[in-house]
Amino acid sequence: MAGGYNSGMTLEFRRAVVPEEAAELWKLDVEIFGDDAFDEELWLSLESYWIVVDGRVAGCAAFIHDVEFQEDLRADGENAAQRGTLYIQSTGLLRAYQGQGLGKRIKEWQIEYARRNGFHRIVTNCRESNARMISINEKCGFRAIRSTPGYYEDGEATVVMELVLP
Ligand SMILES: CC(C)(COP(=O)(O)OP(=O)(O)OC[C@H]1O[C@@H](n2cnc3c(N)ncnc32)[C@H](O)[C@@H]1OP(=O)(O)O)[C@@H](O)C(=O)NCCC(=O)NCCS
Repeated sequence: MAGGYNSGMTLEFRRAVVPEEAAELWKLDVEIFGDDAFDEELWLSLESYWIVVDGRVAGCAAFIHDVEFQEDLRADGENAAQRGTLYIQSTGLLRAYQGQGLGKRIKEWQIEYARRNGFHRIVTNCRESNARMISINEKCGFRAIRSTPGYYEDGEATVVMELVLP
């Protein structure tokens, strides 16, 4: 069947309004990521989208424009300005929506978003053990550019991946 077994699910992306919805985004982030969730404050600065499946909030995704992920390399733990690079800071689905092929559709939308907005490169990162996310990224053409040990509090490495757009 073209499009896969999940093709019947409608998938929409709604721009989150900040500061009004920042607390809601953070709550969802905690529900999805637990200890890995970002500080509530960060959600004020991200360009976030509610991932809506069949009319219900199923997760969220967040970008930063013109930024290179460098938190893992720099002593000050900051990212760096990098014109033309879109950093995908977060992609998360609630457990009930995981494992049904939505992740790939979300990634395709993120790539399309980057193209439409004139970016020539996308950067993202995740835990080394996150086989689902890494597999989706690879299928969409991303390649790992480095793996930084000890990035997470429990000592796990973060894998940084990039996609250069033609
Ligand atoms: C990561 C996430 C967005 C992926 O979306 P998803 O819809 O659950 O992804 P899927 O279950 O369709 O899996 C994607 C692919 O990974 C593959 N996969 C699943 N488990 C795997 C494993 N253990 N090893 C290798 N590949 C695996 C699947 O086979 C699938 O590929 P296919 O469609 O070609 O078969 C989602 O699971 C999620 O939000 N998880 C929690 C938060 C998170 O980890 N976010 C990313 C970190 S920033």
